[in-house]
Amino acid sequence: MRILTIESTCDETAAAIVDDQLNVLSAVVASQDMLHQRFGGVVPEIASRAHVERILPVIDETLRKASLALADLDAIAVATTPGLAGSLLIGLSAAKALCVATGLPLVAVNHLQAHIYACKIASGEEVFPCVGLIVSGGHSNIYRCAGPTDFTPLGGTIDDAAGEAFDKVASLLNLPYPGGPSLSKAAAQGDPQRIRFPRPLLDDDSRLDFSFSGLKTAVRYKLVGIGKLADAPAPQLSDEELADVCAGFQEAVVDCLVGKAELALRRTGFNTLCVGGGVAANGRLRERLQESSQQHGYRLFIPPMSLCTDNAVMGAIALERIKAGEYATLELDISPGQERVSK
Ligand code: KG4
Ligand code: ZN
Repeated sequence: MRILTIESTCDETAAAIVDDQLNVLSAVVASQDMLHQRFGGVVPEIASRAHVERILPVIDETLRKASLALADLDAIAVATTPGLAGSLLIGLSAAKALCVATGLPLVAVNHLQAHIYACKIASGEEVFPCVGLIVSGGHSNIYRCAGPTDFTPLGGTIDDAAGEAFDKVASLLNLPYPGGPSLSKAAAQGDPQRIRFPRPLLDDDSRLDFSFSGLKTAVRYKLVGIGKLADAPAPQLSDEELADVCAGFQEAVVDCLVGKAELALRRTGFNTLCVGGGVAANGRLRERLQESSQQHGYRLFIPPMSLCTDNAVMGAIALERIKAGEYATLELDISPGQERVSK
């Protein structure tokens, strides 16, 4: 069995063809970073317009790379929740149109579940049950994942998502968009201990929530405090100061993520942590989680970078729904909010 999966939840237009052994026959991602760069964040209307232009070329390219035709496929899967409404609609409309044209069945994908499923695809191992940590531009969530499509929320951010905090602090520091990669690159030269930023909610072990907006404000105050925000919009930091601010900020975010992941593992009694989302591409987070897993003796799964950021390969989770006979009808609709994580 081979399926085509389509992903357009945010600002990546992506498609992939995977078989029921989780082999990736082809995968294409068209990033929109260049389009959103000058705004310092994703502009929903620009994103949906770009999806309209790219969706069919991306699907064509995916078929071409696999040397397959639509007639060689067994189902079409599409991410329908959560995401930007306009962006989701483009992927869903394309998937429905292809189903109508070919008679292939339609399968719905939950984008958050797909991020965790990427760990199974990448490792080839059974990763469930596990604690799932999803850290991206739009989400910082922790789940008890009993199975691939059976998630119970344990905690999440009460304000900014982790990636959003990276993007906003990077923008404050005048670093290029997307902020995560550019900030972590600058942080690599810095001393993570020289400037200590707060670790919001980390000492509160009664809850598994995150709060990153105060951290962003703390960076702003730090810049004002050392007289570096007077000549706004761009603070005039030396390379060394910039690196230390970035390293200190990154360390604070990483401490919060690692600390709450460890707490979730203790609470659930699970012995496996799966991490997904764009921020999971962060080198320091990966390093610290490796150390934590060795210290506490749990199994850690973090996909390679290309499967951390948004992609369509992780849509292979649709195969689990197919196995369970859970096909969608052409009445399938988008669900932009993130509250529905289990079936
Ligand atoms: O999962 P993703 O591709 O898209 C969604 O938000 O769904 O994640 C994008 C986010 C952005 O906020 C980006 O700055 C962040 O992931 N990111 C990183 C890194 N690479 C991407 N954050 C920290 N360090 C990185 N290396
Ligand atoms: Zn995502």
